[in-house]
Amino acid sequence: RTLNWNPVMVEKQGFKHFMLKEIYEQPGVVRSCLENYIDSHWTAADHRHSPIRLNLSADLYADLQQIQIVACGTSWHAALVGKYLLEQLAELPTSVQYASEFRYAPSPLTPNTLTIGVTQSGETADTLAALAMEKQRRSGHASEFQARLLGITNRPESSLGDLVPHIIDTHAGIEIGVAATKTFVAQLMAFYCLAIDLAQQRQVIAPAQLEQLLVGLQQLPAQIEAVLESQERYIEQLAHDFAETQDFIFLGRGINFPIALEGALKLKEISYIHAEGYPAGEMKHGPIALLDAKVPVVAIAMPGTVFEKVLSNAQEAKARDARLIGVTPMDEHEAAETFDTVIPVPHVDELLSPIVTVIPLQLLAYHIAARRGLDVDQPRNLAKSVTVE
Ligand code: G6P
Repeated sequence: RTLNWNPVMVEKQGFKHFMLKEIYEQPGVVRSCLENYIDSHWTAADHRHSPIRLNLSADLYADLQQIQIVACGTSWHAALVGKYLLEQLAELPTSVQYASEFRYAPSPLTPNTLTIGVTQSGETADTLAALAMEKQRRSGHASEFQARLLGITNRPESSLGDLVPHIIDTHAGIEIGVAATKTFVAQLMAFYCLAIDLAQQRQVIAPAQLEQLLVGLQQLPAQIEAVLESQERYIEQLAHDFAETQDFIFLGRGINFPIALEGALKLKEISYIHAEGYPAGEMKHGPIALLDAKVPVVAIAMPGTVFEKVLSNAQEAKARDARLIGVTPMDEHEAAETFDTVIPVPHVDELLSPIVTVIPLQLLAYHIAARRGLDVDQPRNLAKSVTVE
């Protein structure tokens, strides 16, 4: 009898690639973030206390006036979702910069500013350099200008861990696929917790909204599982149609604009198909010129502040003969009025929706790349962490 397994297969636990295994680990990652960071006994009656347990020291939050975030790649997309949450929930002006840009053109110094570095590996050279520069340039100034540095990382025992005094550990477990999936979702969870904690401590969130968000967060693992279970085969089939496609457009608005960017990045990274993520309302200012029957458009249409707007932007794409794919919880018949193809996702609180909308986009990128026979876990020209400038 021959053994028909090898050690790598065992590590992949039967999945064809690490990336697919890591996509499937996401419900567990969200669950572990919830267990680590949220007090499960909290109720709205305790609204004087935060339900969040990040163990950050009080001086990080004291008199906070603004936040700046530096990151690269997928972590930069998580930072954009973070900005939305920190501004909308905690009412803190927040800027997001590419670390490679910020390190050579930092924003003017502002007082009582929290600087957050987001890096799953904790080793990305530009992110480390931007944070080190920030610490250094603030060191000669009065106390309100001193650096307050926080890292969000999957590897607290990293160079980032040595550099910054405060860390939110994303607890996603080691990620092997070069294209980040579960670490991205874990970074989003870190931002939910941070934004909720700041909103509570600054008393700018109503207890009812806080409670509603916590209930919504607890439902996410089962909702991700539902998307994986109900949509993976379908998306695998759908991928057949796109194995030869050369360009893709991803549209989103509001909190799902960064998810459009992330969907496009995943596709570029592993399938080598040109893809652009765009805020749906900007399409008419340029990218619409690219559209024809050969360019599929993926639109993220989640109920909330910009729902109708996204639908009408999607109609504009359809009028140019683009094949329109909707990621939406709309009912089948209603969705069919706008979209040629629908990838259904659960109806969730708008603020929480990135966690469910990113899942089908990861699967779409994965299955298109697998269909093209590419090395999904080790794409050409890319490294898991970029430790040089
Ligand atoms: C590399 C990887 C990307 C990743 C980026 C930032 O370019 O290929 O997937 O998003 O680095 O990595 P970090 O470890 O800082 O999150």
